[in-house]
Amino acid sequence: MLTLTNVTKVFKKNEKNFIAVEDLSFTINKGEIFGLIGTNGAGKTTTMRMIATTLKPTYGTINVCGYDSVKDDANVRKCIGVLYGGDTGLYDRLTARENIEYFGRLNGLNDDAINKQMDYLSNVFGLQDYLDRKCGGFSRGMKQKTSFARAIIHNPQVMLFDEPTSGLDILASEEVLNFIKQCKKMGKTILLSSHNMQEVEELCDRALIIDHGKTLCTGTLDQILKQTNSNSIKESFIKLIKKDY
Ligand SMILES: Nc1ncnc2c1ncn2[C@@H]1O[C@H](COP(=O)(O)OP(=O)(O)OP(=O)(O)O)[C@@H](O)[C@H]1O
Ligand SMILES: [Mg+2]
Repeated sequence: MLTLTNVTKVFKKNEKNFIAVEDLSFTINKGEIFGLIGTNGAGKTTTMRMIATTLKPTYGTINVCGYDSVKDDANVRKCIGVLYGGDTGLYDRLTARENIEYFGRLNGLNDDAINKQMDYLSNVFGLQDYLDRKCGGFSRGMKQKTSFARAIIHNPQVMLFDEPTSGLDILASEEVLNFIKQCKKMGKTILLSSHNMQEVEELCDRALIIDHGKTLCTGTLDQILKQTNSNSIKESFIKLIKKDY
Protein backbone atom coordinates (compact mmCIF):
# COMPACT_ATOMS: atom_id res chain seq x y z
CA MET A 1 0.00 0.00 0.00
CA LEU A 2 2.85 2.39 0.85
CA THR A 3 6.40 1.55 -0.18
CA LEU A 4 9.54 3.66 0.02
CA THR A 5 12.51 2.31 -1.92
CA ASN A 6 15.98 3.74 -1.24
CA VAL A 7 14.62 7.23 -0.65
CA THR A 8 17.16 10.00 -0.14
CA LYS A 9 16.52 13.73 0.27
CA VAL A 10 19.33 16.20 -0.19
CA PHE A 11 18.78 19.86 0.70
CA LYS A 12 21.08 22.72 -0.22
CA LYS A 13 22.12 24.51 2.95
CA ASN A 14 24.46 27.53 2.54
CA GLU A 15 25.59 26.22 -0.85
CA LYS A 16 26.43 22.86 0.69
CA ASN A 17 24.56 19.58 0.26
CA PHE A 18 22.81 18.36 3.37
CA ILE A 19 21.39 14.83 3.49
CA ALA A 20 18.17 14.97 5.52
CA VAL A 21 17.02 11.42 4.65
CA GLU A 22 19.37 8.70 3.44
CA ASP A 23 18.51 5.47 1.64
CA LEU A 24 15.23 4.95 3.49
CA SER A 25 13.16 1.86 2.61
CA PHE A 26 10.03 0.41 4.19
CA THR A 27 6.59 -0.92 3.29
CA ILE A 28 3.37 -0.43 5.24
CA ASN A 29 0.47 -2.78 4.56
CA LYS A 30 -3.27 -2.35 4.98
CA GLY A 31 -4.37 -2.40 8.61
CA GLU A 32 -0.89 -1.66 9.85
CA ILE A 33 0.44 1.18 12.00
CA PHE A 34 4.10 1.90 11.33
CA GLY A 35 6.03 4.17 13.69
CA LEU A 36 8.73 6.56 12.57
CA ILE A 37 10.82 7.37 15.61
CA GLY A 38 13.71 9.80 15.81
CA THR A 39 15.25 12.77 17.58
CA ASN A 40 14.52 16.36 16.50
CA GLY A 41 15.81 16.89 12.97
CA ALA A 42 16.10 13.15 12.25
CA GLY A 43 14.12 13.44 9.00
CA LYS A 44 10.59 12.34 10.00
CA THR A 45 8.66 15.34 8.69
CA THR A 46 10.81 15.43 5.54
CA THR A 47 9.83 11.79 4.93
CA MET A 48 6.14 12.58 5.44
CA ARG A 49 6.38 15.57 3.10
CA MET A 50 7.94 13.43 0.38
CA ILE A 51 5.15 10.84 0.71
CA ALA A 52 2.59 13.65 0.65
CA THR A 53 4.19 14.88 -2.64
CA THR A 54 5.07 18.30 -1.16
CA LEU A 55 8.76 17.44 -1.64
CA LYS A 56 10.35 15.27 -4.31
CA PRO A 57 12.87 12.63 -3.29
CA THR A 58 16.36 13.38 -4.62
CA TYR A 59 16.86 9.64 -5.18
CA GLY A 60 14.63 6.62 -4.77
CA THR A 61 10.91 6.07 -5.30
CA ILE A 62 7.72 6.23 -3.28
CA ASN A 63 4.69 4.19 -4.25
CA VAL A 64 1.29 4.92 -2.73
CA CYS A 65 -1.63 2.60 -3.60
CA GLY A 66 0.07 1.73 -6.88
CA TYR A 67 0.89 5.33 -7.86
CA ASP A 68 4.35 6.87 -8.09
CA SER A 69 4.68 9.99 -5.91
CA VAL A 70 6.43 11.97 -8.65
CA LYS A 71 4.85 10.71 -11.89
CA ASP A 72 1.34 10.34 -10.48
CA ASP A 73 1.31 12.92 -7.71
CA ALA A 74 -2.33 13.94 -8.19
CA ASN A 75 -3.53 10.36 -7.72
CA VAL A 76 -1.25 9.92 -4.72
CA ARG A 77 -2.78 12.97 -3.05
CA LYS A 78 -6.26 11.46 -3.45
CA CYS A 79 -5.14 8.34 -1.56
CA ILE A 80 -3.54 10.08 1.41
CA GLY A 81 -4.55 12.18 4.37
CA VAL A 82 -1.83 14.13 6.14
CA LEU A 83 -1.84 15.64 9.59
CA TYR A 84 1.15 17.60 10.82
CA GLY A 85 1.46 18.39 14.51
CA GLY A 86 2.31 21.94 15.56
CA ASP A 87 0.91 24.50 13.17
CA THR A 88 -2.47 23.27 12.00
CA GLY A 89 -2.87 25.64 9.03
CA LEU A 90 -6.61 26.13 9.62
CA TYR A 91 -8.23 29.30 8.35
CA ASP A 92 -9.00 31.28 11.50
CA ARG A 93 -11.82 33.27 9.92
CA LEU A 94 -13.69 30.14 8.84
CA THR A 95 -15.68 27.88 11.13
CA ALA A 96 -14.57 24.31 11.77
CA ARG A 97 -17.30 23.08 9.45
CA GLU A 98 -16.21 25.47 6.68
CA ASN A 99 -12.55 24.46 7.05
CA ILE A 100 -13.41 20.76 6.82
CA GLU A 101 -15.89 21.29 4.00
CA TYR A 102 -13.37 23.30 1.99
CA PHE A 103 -10.92 20.38 2.03
CA GLY A 104 -13.69 17.99 1.13
CA ARG A 105 -14.44 20.06 -1.97
CA LEU A 106 -10.75 20.29 -2.88
CA ASN A 107 -10.80 16.51 -2.81
CA GLY A 108 -13.79 16.35 -5.13
CA LEU A 109 -16.45 15.24 -2.61
CA ASN A 110 -20.09 16.12 -3.30
CA ASP A 111 -22.50 17.57 -0.71
CA ASP A 112 -23.83 14.18 0.33
CA ALA A 113 -20.41 12.70 0.91
CA ILE A 114 -19.26 15.80 2.82
CA ASN A 115 -22.33 15.76 5.08
CA LYS A 116 -21.95 12.06 5.79
CA GLN A 117 -18.25 12.35 6.64
CA MET A 118 -18.87 15.55 8.64
CA ASP A 119 -21.44 13.75 10.82
CA TYR A 120 -19.20 10.75 11.30
CA LEU A 121 -16.03 12.72 12.09
CA SER A 122 -17.68 15.30 14.34
CA ASN A 123 -19.10 12.38 16.29
CA VAL A 124 -15.73 10.64 16.54
CA PHE A 125 -13.92 13.79 17.69
CA GLY A 126 -16.76 15.37 19.67
CA LEU A 127 -16.74 18.46 17.43
CA GLN A 128 -20.49 19.06 17.54
CA ASP A 129 -20.37 21.89 20.07
CA TYR A 130 -17.97 24.02 18.12
CA LEU A 131 -18.46 22.91 14.52
CA ASP A 132 -20.06 26.28 13.65
CA ARG A 133 -17.64 28.49 15.55
CA LYS A 134 -14.70 30.29 13.97
CA CYS A 135 -11.39 28.44 14.41
CA GLY A 136 -9.51 31.60 15.43
CA GLY A 137 -10.75 31.28 19.03
CA PHE A 138 -10.11 27.55 19.39
CA SER A 139 -7.85 25.93 21.97
CA ARG A 140 -4.90 23.84 20.78
CA GLY A 141 -6.88 20.61 21.20
CA MET A 142 -9.95 21.91 19.37
CA LYS A 143 -7.73 23.02 16.49
CA GLN A 144 -5.99 19.66 16.37
CA LYS A 145 -9.25 17.71 16.29
CA THR A 146 -10.59 19.96 13.54
CA SER A 147 -7.36 19.42 11.57
CA PHE A 148 -7.73 15.67 12.00
CA ALA A 149 -11.23 15.75 10.54
CA ARG A 150 -10.03 17.96 7.71
CA ALA A 151 -7.09 15.68 6.88
CA ILE A 152 -9.28 12.63 6.43
CA ILE A 153 -12.58 14.06 5.16
CA HIS A 154 -12.03 12.17 1.86
CA ASN A 155 -11.59 8.85 3.71
CA PRO A 156 -8.09 8.18 2.35
CA GLN A 157 -6.51 4.72 2.36
CA VAL A 158 -3.13 5.95 3.56
CA MET A 159 -2.86 8.21 6.61
CA LEU A 160 0.23 10.14 7.63
CA PHE A 161 0.17 11.41 11.20
CA ASP A 162 3.17 13.55 12.16
CA GLU A 163 3.16 13.94 15.94
CA PRO A 164 -0.64 13.99 16.06
CA THR A 165 -0.91 14.33 19.85
CA SER A 166 1.72 17.02 20.31
CA GLY A 167 0.32 19.71 22.60
CA LEU A 168 -2.86 17.82 23.46
CA ASP A 169 -4.06 17.08 26.98
CA ILE A 170 -4.47 13.51 28.23
CA LEU A 171 -8.14 13.19 27.26
CA ALA A 172 -7.71 14.73 23.82
CA SER A 173 -4.65 12.50 23.19
CA GLU A 174 -6.66 9.47 24.23
CA GLU A 175 -9.40 10.35 21.73
CA VAL A 176 -6.82 10.72 18.98
CA LEU A 177 -5.17 7.38 19.87
CA ASN A 178 -8.55 5.64 19.89
CA PHE A 179 -9.34 7.14 16.53
CA ILE A 180 -6.03 5.92 15.06
CA LYS A 181 -6.82 2.43 16.40
CA GLN A 182 -10.20 2.62 14.73
CA CYS A 183 -8.53 3.57 11.43
CA LYS A 184 -6.34 0.48 11.75
CA LYS A 185 -9.43 -1.68 12.28
CA MET A 186 -10.91 -0.16 9.13
CA GLY A 187 -7.85 -1.46 7.25
CA LYS A 188 -6.09 1.86 6.76
CA THR A 189 -2.35 2.11 6.13
CA ILE A 190 -0.90 4.36 8.81
CA LEU A 191 2.45 6.08 9.24
CA LEU A 192 2.84 7.70 12.65
CA SER A 193 5.66 9.79 14.02
CA SER A 194 5.80 10.49 17.71
CA HIS A 195 8.18 11.45 20.50
CA ASN A 196 5.98 9.59 22.94
CA MET A 197 7.26 6.02 23.28
CA GLN A 198 4.24 4.89 25.30
CA GLU A 199 2.09 5.92 22.37
CA VAL A 200 4.34 4.01 19.97
CA GLU A 201 4.13 0.89 22.15
CA GLU A 202 0.37 1.16 22.37
CA LEU A 203 -0.26 1.71 18.66
CA CYS A 204 2.49 0.49 16.38
CA ASP A 205 2.86 -2.95 14.84
CA ARG A 206 6.28 -2.15 13.44
CA ALA A 207 8.61 0.82 13.67
CA LEU A 208 11.74 2.34 12.22
CA ILE A 209 14.24 4.28 14.25
CA ILE A 210 15.90 7.07 12.30
CA ASP A 211 18.80 9.33 13.30
CA HIS A 212 20.36 12.04 11.11
CA GLY A 213 18.39 10.61 8.20
CA LYS A 214 19.82 7.11 8.60
CA THR A 215 17.90 3.98 9.57
CA LEU A 216 19.27 2.55 12.81
CA CYS A 217 16.82 -0.30 13.28
CA THR A 218 13.49 -1.50 11.94
CA GLY A 219 11.11 -4.37 12.58
CA THR A 220 8.25 -5.38 14.82
CA LEU A 221 8.43 -3.81 18.28
CA ASP A 222 9.45 -7.22 19.67
CA GLN A 223 12.26 -7.52 17.14
CA ILE A 224 13.52 -4.04 18.07
CA LEU A 225 13.43 -4.92 21.79
CA LYS A 226 15.31 -8.19 21.19
CA GLN A 227 17.88 -6.66 18.88
CA THR A 228 18.74 -4.01 21.46
CA ASN A 229 18.32 -6.24 24.47
CA SER A 230 15.79 -3.84 25.96
CA ASN A 231 12.58 -3.94 27.97
CA SER A 232 10.96 -0.90 26.43
CA ILE A 233 11.05 1.00 23.15
CA LYS A 234 12.33 4.02 25.05
CA GLU A 235 15.30 1.96 26.22
CA SER A 236 15.85 0.60 22.68
CA PHE A 237 15.74 4.10 21.27
CA ILE A 238 18.27 5.52 23.72
CA LYS A 239 20.63 2.58 23.22
CA LEU A 240 20.40 2.86 19.44
CA ILE A 241 21.06 6.61 19.44
CA LYS A 242 24.00 6.19 21.82
CA LYS A 243 25.15 3.07 19.95
CA ASP A 244 25.21 1.26 23.27
CA TYR A 245 23.67 -2.20 22.93
N1 LIG B 1 13.32 22.89 3.27
C1 LIG B 1 14.46 22.58 3.91
N2 LIG B 1 15.65 23.11 3.54
C2 LIG B 1 16.79 22.79 4.18
N3 LIG B 1 16.86 21.92 5.22
C3 LIG B 1 15.72 21.38 5.63
C4 LIG B 1 14.45 21.65 5.02
N4 LIG B 1 13.48 20.94 5.65
C5 LIG B 1 14.10 20.25 6.63
N5 LIG B 1 15.43 20.49 6.62
C6 LIG B 1 16.45 19.91 7.51
O1 LIG B 1 16.33 18.50 7.42
C7 LIG B 1 16.55 17.90 8.70
C8 LIG B 1 15.36 17.01 9.02
O2 LIG B 1 14.25 17.82 9.37
P1 LIG B 1 12.81 17.22 9.72
O3 LIG B 1 11.89 18.36 9.87
O4 LIG B 1 12.49 16.18 8.74
O5 LIG B 1 13.10 16.54 11.13
P2 LIG B 1 12.07 15.81 12.13
O6 LIG B 1 12.58 14.42 12.34
O7 LIG B 1 10.69 15.98 11.67
O8 LIG B 1 12.32 16.62 13.48
P3 LIG B 1 11.28 17.07 14.67
O9 LIG B 1 11.22 15.92 15.61
O10 LIG B 1 11.97 18.23 15.28
O11 LIG B 1 9.97 17.42 14.04
C9 LIG B 1 16.78 19.04 9.68
O12 LIG B 1 18.17 19.20 9.85
C10 LIG B 1 16.19 20.25 8.98
O13 LIG B 1 16.85 21.42 9.34
MG1 LIG C 1 9.02 16.91 12.43
